[in-house]
Amino acid sequence: MSSDSPFASAETYYAQYRPRYGDRPIAHLVDRFDLDDDSRALDLGCGAGQITIPLAAHVGTAVGMDPNSRMIDGARGQARAADRENVEWTVGSDADLRGAVGEELGPFTVTTMGRSFHWMDRGPTLDRIRELTEPGGGVAVFGDTEWLTSGRRAWQDEVYDLAADYLDDLPERTGQRTEPYENPYDELIADHGFEAVEVATFESTREWTVDEVVGYVFSLSFCSPATFGDEKDDFEADLRERLDELGGPFEQDEEVRVISGRKLA
Ligand SMILES: C[S@@+](CC[C@H](N)C(=O)[O-])C[C@H]1O[C@@H](n2cnc3c(N)ncnc32)[C@H](O)[C@@H]1O
Repeated sequence: MSSDSPFASAETYYAQYRPRYGDRPIAHLVDRFDLDDDSRALDLGCGAGQITIPLAAHVGTAVGMDPNSRMIDGARGQARAADRENVEWTVGSDADLRGAVGEELGPFTVTTMGRSFHWMDRGPTLDRIRELTEPGGGVAVFGDTEWLTSGRRAWQDEVYDLAADYLDDLPERTGQRTEPYENPYDELIADHGFEAVEVATFESTREWTVDEVVGYVFSLSFCSPATFGDEKDDFEADLRERLDELGGPFEQDEEVRVISGRKLA
């Protein structure tokens, strides 16, 4: 249900402005799980297909699953634009996967979850994913640096401070990577029966335009257009003015992490 979603009103910005993870993390998955035309991948919490669409280029079929139907609409549009036809889209959550839907959709060679696992009932979901995984396949959790709260650049301080002038309950800006969970995902994945658990890290520097900075901010669940209410246009105008004054370049230190485990038998 889109209206209950923490991303309600952020979906169009999400599809257009939330970056993908780059080629290296996808190539890592392909190597690790020997993905090919016979492989079937599930991307749970797929959003606008940031993993589903590039991963589909390396498997027979990719299934993108998300409870927010407007996210799925955005994903379909991205797949059409990329001429990517071997993707099945389905509206559903981790709870649906744990039900009969899981049997209908699976089995899978690999299941990915990008910036989405923290929204789920994680232990039972890993158990279900393991049941639905072919031997030799596995699970991979993708994450990256959320720069509004965790980035270290001065221009990011300015964007944060401006958003904090408008929003009372913005998460704290720590200037360092914070994890939205207590039990580290590598341990959790191992605790739920996956073996050879690995954490792979991919660093890069990304440069953002003013439009991309604005779109990214509105793609965040805690800064979605709805959170600003009637003040959304005022905030956007102030943000653009501030960014124009700062002048750029707006560089971000990106760190993508892929935490994966294999089902051996
Ligand atoms: C930050 S977005 C990530 C989208 C995409 N995977 C990516 O890597 O950019 C989080 C997504 O998780 C979805 N989500 C929220 N709760 C979920 C749940 N219980 N089960 C599956 N997905 C969920 C949201 O609808 C949203 O599309």
